[in-house]
Amino acid sequence: MKKIFYVTTPLYYVNADPHIGHAYTQIATDALARYRKSLGEEVFFMTGTDEHGEKIEKASIESGLKKGDEKSFVDDIHKRFKDLWVRLDIRYDFFIRTTDKEHEDAVKHILDELNKKGDIYKKKYTGYFCTPCEMFWSKFQAKDGICPDCKRPLESIDENNYFFKLSKYQKWLIEYIEKNADFIKPSSRRNEVLGLLKHNELIDLCITRPKSRLGWGIEVPFDKDYVVYVWFDALINYISGAGYPHNMKKFKSLWPADVHIIGKDILRHHAIYWPIMLKALGINMPKTVFAHGWWVFKGEKMSKSKGNIVDPNYLLDTYGKDVFRYFLLSEIPFGVDGAFDEESIISRHDSDLANDLGNLLNRTLTMAEKYFKGEIPEKPDSDDNTEGGGNVKAAAGMLPEKIKTNMRELNFSGALASVWELINTANKYIEDSKPWTLFKEKKEDQLKWVIYNLIESLRMITIAISPFIPSTSQAMWKQLAFKEDLDSVPFQAITQWGLSKPGIKVNKEKPLFPRIRQK
Ligand code: MSP
Repeated sequence: MKKIFYVTTPLYYVNADPHIGHAYTQIATDALARYRKSLGEEVFFMTGTDEHGEKIEKASIESGLKKGDEKSFVDDIHKRFKDLWVRLDIRYDFFIRTTDKEHEDAVKHILDELNKKGDIYKKKYTGYFCTPCEMFWSKFQAKDGICPDCKRPLESIDENNYFFKLSKYQKWLIEYIEKNADFIKPSSRRNEVLGLLKHNELIDLCITRPKSRLGWGIEVPFDKDYVVYVWFDALINYISGAGYPHNMKKFKSLWPADVHIIGKDILRHHAIYWPIMLKALGINMPKTVFAHGWWVFKGEKMSKSKGNIVDPNYLLDTYGKDVFRYFLLSEIPFGVDGAFDEESIISRHDSDLANDLGNLLNRTLTMAEKYFKGEIPEKPDSDDNTEGGGNVKAAAGMLPEKIKTNMRELNFSGALASVWELINTANKYIEDSKPWTLFKEKKEDQLKWVIYNLIESLRMITIAISPFIPSTSQAMWKQLAFKEDLDSVPFQAITQWGLSKPGIKVNKEKPLFPRIRQK
């Protein structure tokens, strides 16, 4: 059976509306999935929502609903995520909700399995809980009753609970991470996890809450007085959504996941709890867990509780989806933090999209109209000795490998920068070859070469940007008037120079990115 490329996002909490942090993970994953599809691979891109736990129960009550009405709350909010994904052109293959019956059944099945295996036991829990982070902290970890992550006061807990034997697998996990360099990426995050595991003893994970404290969760199959801790429930989505255990044929074609894309805030859960859960179940590890950085706003991570949220719908209304997608993907390398400010969106729009990309398309099509009645010219028999023609072909020739190398490392900004190298070389080519002079001097062959080379560069650029800014790419394709459906054009088509068909009549429209600030 052929292995399908399986990529996931975290499941977003539905306690509040989506913000640009969520959109960031989603856009990056979408770009990766689209890129892998363009390589001709079968891809399964799964995303969804995390709908149980204290945080959601609290938000539901705060919204005015009664305790017990959480399902109608999550039914409402999860749609806002789906709506945003439509607006952002996110093309996922499956949307999982942790309230889906198949997922809930999988969680119960897994708990029974681990319980039978002796990896679950009951004892008194005395420690802390942080509701905004949905995290347990021991008295040792949070000495002053303050959450080590979000720095808010913790809730003190003294109750009987079930525990999962994390500590039993600590030695194995250290060895596994050491042997598998690609398991946690980037390497700074891998070192962070290894440091944590080597210098601290793992504490067994509390995986339940008594129903008397928390009603909104999956019931523990072997003790009806408890519900499952939200993280233990949610992590299981990566296998339940892939068919485990109800559709093992599907599961075999998907698992192991190729990459779990997450933010660095949830590294511990994905790089410690999750592999140990899988190991205990006898399931192979995902190939890679990739943790990207945070968008910070005035020095702090954007989050609802800090009240520094930037609403993606506002940015979409103001700048459009591709400006938003392009900004997030190009502004910072995937893996490091970035400071968000709206001025940077405007300057990226005006420089990269309006000035470089938009201008290249517009100038080229204007010249095709003026010099060749809008038709893509024939390649002349004479040699191409236009000034700068060699540079354009060389830049185009290097493009596929540069994109591949960057995308192997999920370096979206690097992949885009390599497309912009070709865009800039092509713009410079216009200046160097001076088509207006060639026209005046009636050097028709050379003029044909220039326009043909520019159209050919644009063909490659359009295909290359399609995973990142798909609707711009569609609009460019339409103006270039190529006949094939862009979605079915493989990445392979940029590895060959000269595929643009002469004689096609281009279809120039108004500029794609009119400048926001005039020069
Ligand atoms: N529900 C858990 C994940 C469970 S996965 C089994 C959760 N949800 S969340 O709604 O808080 O979303 C977390 C993810 O959103 C982060 O891991 C990250 O991918 C993204 N981001 C949330 N805030 C972010 C920023 N300020 N910047 C960048 N991404 C961030 O944790």
